[in-house]
Amino acid sequence: MIITLCGGGSTFTPGIVKSIALRKDELDVDEIRLYDINEERQRKIGVLVDWILHEDLGLDIKLTVTTDKKTAFTDASFVFAQMRVGGYAMREQDEKIPLRHGCVGQETCGCGGLAYGMRTIFPMVELIDDVEKYAKKDYWILNYSNPAAIVSEGCRVLRPNARIINICDMPIDLMDKMSRMCGIKDRRELQYSYYGLNHFGWWTKIHDRAGNDLMPTIKAQMAKNGYAGEDSGLEFVDASWDQTFRKAKDVYALDPNTIPNTYLKYYLFPDYVVEHTDPNHTRTDEVREGREKRVFGTARQIIEKGTSEGFGLKPDTHAEYIVDLARALAENTRERFSLIVPNDGAVSNFDPTAMVEIPCIVGSDGYE
Ligand code: NAD
Ligand code: G6P
Ligand code: MN
Repeated sequence: MIITLCGGGSTFTPGIVKSIALRKDELDVDEIRLYDINEERQRKIGVLVDWILHEDLGLDIKLTVTTDKKTAFTDASFVFAQMRVGGYAMREQDEKIPLRHGCVGQETCGCGGLAYGMRTIFPMVELIDDVEKYAKKDYWILNYSNPAAIVSEGCRVLRPNARIINICDMPIDLMDKMSRMCGIKDRRELQYSYYGLNHFGWWTKIHDRAGNDLMPTIKAQMAKNGYAGEDSGLEFVDASWDQTFRKAKDVYALDPNTIPNTYLKYYLFPDYVVEHTDPNHTRTDEVREGREKRVFGTARQIIEKGTSEGFGLKPDTHAEYIVDLARALAENTRERFSLIVPNDGAVSNFDPTAMVEIPCIVGSDGYE
């Protein structure tokens, strides 16, 4: 079993590799490959990943770090895609140009999101063609690359037969928060209905495994604090995410019958968002000063010191979700996942060809 990460130089790569490694036996994985077009960025992450696999965990999983497509994809079973086309330099423009004109500046919404989408569709199509050419016939591409709403629609139209599943970690992260609101340890316990487009959706039902309705508890919390209640883990998030989780209180108030995705704030409160964003210091600056600095700082320290002692790294929800999904496909677990898929009647009053985000059952024959 070979898993290739496309966008190997991503800040999310170390977490995903750790998650794969910890589930090595369930997935039966022999080799992990990193592929990127930025050799230098990926090389640094490669050092960190090498340490995670071989020193931290002491595993015998083979690691290949490459910029060659054939080496990357030959006989791969899974490709986890997480490319940021244009890098943070272009994300900065997607955020700052609209703000200069009084519009929302965000990587997945509004004109910035459209620009990022236009940049990403053709590299995604190229990836599909390369994977078709080199990988196992029953390959799966699990795609996190944003903006997922536009990317998934582009791939549906241009490569309708590709074995690609587009996913987002926002509903999962929010369900973690909802579980904590209800005193439930594992989000996988929640039975739910959710509908919408990527970064534009609502929960209509949330039950526990025994069938108890959790909506009243969650609604009461949303009305008070949005997603920012006690135990929500916000001490670990940057200022702009803190604001977003809190603003969900006002988004919720617009339709108290449903629980909203955080990203609705960009559509329903655009003026508020513009007023509360510093046009000279956007999310890109925050990531450069935070996540990017942390991940690459760790890699640099390991290279300089020649040892990795003292660097712990935990897999997060984002990493676990993509690995859970791969396992469902490989092992036919038939669990429920929130996926971005052709509507096909699931949302009855909406375009049947639209790529909607809805719960699906996943097994070895794909999703239903
Ligand atoms: P990053 O810039 O740290 O990493 C992305 C990597 O992709 C870079 O190393 C870059 O060189 C590489 N890349 C760019 N174009 C490529 C191409 N054509 N082929 C191969 N590699 C290419 O970015 P990041 O912040 O770690 O995010 C990675 C991606 O994951 C972004 O698209 C981000 O929006 C997405 N993401 C999505 C979700 C979701 O919910 N769907 C969640 C988190 C991140
Ligand atoms: C959320 C969204 C993703 C987005 C991610 C990281 O999880 O669902 O689509 O890419 O946040 O955003 P950040 O601003 O931290 O790079
Ligand atoms: Mn997302």
